[in-house]
Amino acid sequence: MQDFKKKVIYQIYPKSFKDSNADGFGDLNGITEKLDYLYWLGVDYIWVTPFFISPQKDNGYDVADYYNIDPMFGTMKDFEQLIQSATKKQIGIMLDMVFNHTSTSHIWFQRALQGDRNYQDYYIFREGTPNCPPTNWQSKFGGSAWEYVPSLQKWYLHLFDKTQADLNWENPIVREELKNIIRFWKQKGVQGFRFDVVNLISKPAIFEDDFSGDGRKFYTDGPHVHEYIKELVRDTNIADMVTVGEMSSTSIENCIRYTNPTEKELRMCFNFHHLKVDYKNGNKWELQPVDRKALKNLFITWQTGMQENNGWNAVFWCNHDQPRVVSRFGNDKHYWKQSAKMLASAIHLMRGTPYIYQGEEIGMTNPCFTSIDQYQDIESINYYNILLENKKSKEEALHILQERSRDNSRTPMQWNEHPYAGFSTQKPWMSLTGNYTQINVEREQNDPDSILCFYKKLISLRKQEKAISHGTISFLKKEDDNVLAYIREYEHDQIVVLNNLSDTEQPIYTPLPLENYTLLLGNYNHSSFTHTRILLPYETIVFKHLKNPVLNIK
Ligand code: GLC
Repeated sequence: MQDFKKKVIYQIYPKSFKDSNADGFGDLNGITEKLDYLYWLGVDYIWVTPFFISPQKDNGYDVADYYNIDPMFGTMKDFEQLIQSATKKQIGIMLDMVFNHTSTSHIWFQRALQGDRNYQDYYIFREGTPNCPPTNWQSKFGGSAWEYVPSLQKWYLHLFDKTQADLNWENPIVREELKNIIRFWKQKGVQGFRFDVVNLISKPAIFEDDFSGDGRKFYTDGPHVHEYIKELVRDTNIADMVTVGEMSSTSIENCIRYTNPTEKELRMCFNFHHLKVDYKNGNKWELQPVDRKALKNLFITWQTGMQENNGWNAVFWCNHDQPRVVSRFGNDKHYWKQSAKMLASAIHLMRGTPYIYQGEEIGMTNPCFTSIDQYQDIESINYYNILLENKKSKEEALHILQERSRDNSRTPMQWNEHPYAGFSTQKPWMSLTGNYTQINVEREQNDPDSILCFYKKLISLRKQEKAISHGTISFLKKEDDNVLAYIREYEHDQIVVLNNLSDTEQPIYTPLPLENYTLLLGNYNHSSFTHTRILLPYETIVFKHLKNPVLNIK
């Protein structure tokens, strides 16, 4: 892959992207239909979330057969067609490999249930009695991480839903099975892989209770994780492809190892620390306003820490598990356009590979569902019930879901103002967000000042400016919680990025000799930007200097 640092990746959640056959569910042909749009936008890769055979308890992250496509999404022919059409447009397809667990409907698990010991060793089974799980670990979706099988008198581990049984990576046969899956899809022409929660695959040798937490400290970045990733990458020969690991509750030291090229593990990884700055006491289900100081410090720590040790970040705000960024870190009522653009600029110009999640590029918002019946996500429904058990009222619990549910990002893509937002001609599987007549691709493609056209500019800027793709990063105004400011440098080029994270004006002193600077981007239309000493609410300004100034921004 040439010069991967210039690339931008677009994430597609196929179920909600485009329905080509009028059944209310998005599908692979829907993606093929929209390749022209993605080409116009300028993205290099599409990461498609799982479309394999699955009971869909966790929307495809519960895989029952890794080699076949769920009929809901189409056929293998459709997939081959997608690869072919994308390749013509020089867009690579990345697949999502869910290798920490399988669905309990997978044939391996079914055989284990029938008593086959070889297949029991594919999973993490422990002998036990009904009321006494092997440890007190909690599932990430709520409740115990163990499920009892009376016929076997054994418990099995599931870090997610009880229908998602954790695989036993200690077993070399399991590791071979997983490599074969990679080999199969590689042969189809796939150009990259995202590995789902891959830093959870290595469990400890001894299972013990966690008296201070939910168990994650025993299996996060576990004992053999680096070894297993290296082996998988080496034996499937994917070191030169674009690979990204989803790292849950990870550490910077581990992410350096996962991504430093000398280790031959992955190209880059996702970490989620910056997306927990509105969790009260670290609890996703307790609301608190965004802690901007923490947000800034996390960016500074991760950007500079990875840089110093030759690691590489995936930079992102959104995915199919996160609420919409403009509703969360911006202001989707009074500064919708400005804040969406500022947030885009803040991330895209950092050091790392930017990811755009479908709909983010047009400023899609949280849908603010008004009834629990509109929610479909297993985690949201489980936690709604847990919140009620913990004595929250129905209104309070619903309000928490409106802010935190993963369904916030799973509503159908808003293509145009027609019924069902041009996503389908039938009632979609999930309610739409009500504002699609205002916020949609068609409208924004025709408006040069739109959020969409701003994203397009950001993507092309990364391709033009080596300071953005390859430059170093250093942070300015470190003490100011409201302004995220940094400078990217490459040889003689300097690009300065100033972002007002707040909804109030922020004074900033920039001694800019006008003639030496070029404005690259901004989200307010004022031509005399260098005279301003005030950043407007959610303002972003990006400018470039060509010589070698002494930069002094206060
Ligand atoms: C990842 C996926 C999420 C899924 C979970 C379990 O976090 O992004 O959607 O529920 O893994 O596979």
